Amino acid sequence: MNILHIDSACLGDNSASRQLSAAAVEALCAGAQASVVYRDLSAAPLSHVNGPLMQVMRSEWNTALPMNAELSAEALLTESLLAEFMAADVLVLGAPMFNLSVPSTLKAWLDRVLLQGRTYDVGPDGRTVGLATGKRVVLVSTRGGQPHEMLADHQESYLKAVFAIMGVAQVDVVRAEGIALGAELRAQAIQGALRQAAQLRVAG
Ligand SMILES: Cc1cc2nc3c(=O)[nH]c(=O)nc-3n(C[C@H](O)[C@H](O)[C@H](O)COP(=O)(O)O)c2cc1C
Repeated sequence: MNILHIDSACLGDNSASRQLSAAAVEALCAGAQASVVYRDLSAAPLSHVNGPLMQVMRSEWNTALPMNAELSAEALLTESLLAEFMAADVLVLGAPMFNLSVPSTLKAWLDRVLLQGRTYDVGPDGRTVGLATGKRVVLVSTRGGQPHEMLADHQESYLKAVFAIMGVAQVDVVRAEGIALGAELRAQAIQGALRQAAQLRVAG
């Protein structure tokens, strides 16, 4: 079993999502033959995608724009990110809520892997067809507040929509909310989420 473990939190050692994503990986590895690839999107952020890179990735290369070393390196990096994701049986994704959505570092990764023709296609009827089927995503969701205080959730619901487009049928959520509402609520939330994480197992 191949596990891709990704963190995107930027608050360092105090990060709840990093603690929880590590616990999720540990539980999944228990009793299973697993190989783990780790990627830290905060320590090694990806650049934003741009027009030439998208042209290259979509094989719509405009010969009027010469390939240069930087573009070539970004295209190779994107290929390796795609290969890393496609090789994973399980993606454990640490995804805190930042301003109702996900950290921009995570969005930059999604822009590299949510690619038409690679992880999804669009059928003649305009519907998307996922090409990254057979995977499982463990979504580690942390939030400073409580759901009732939120005008909208563009974090978990957004990520579920993204993985649905790619054809991922199983998304398990490990969630800790109220992280910023005092030490007691934070500790309770993390303990509850650690219990959820500890129950994760590989099917079969
Ligand atoms: C830039 C930023 C924006 C945030 N926006 C929200 C938000 O919109 N809603 C919320 O409930 N918490 C918000 N938080 C709090 C984080 O979701 C919370 O602290 C979470 O635990 C961070 O993940 P971490 O503990 O893994 O670092 C925000 C934190 C930061 C740093």
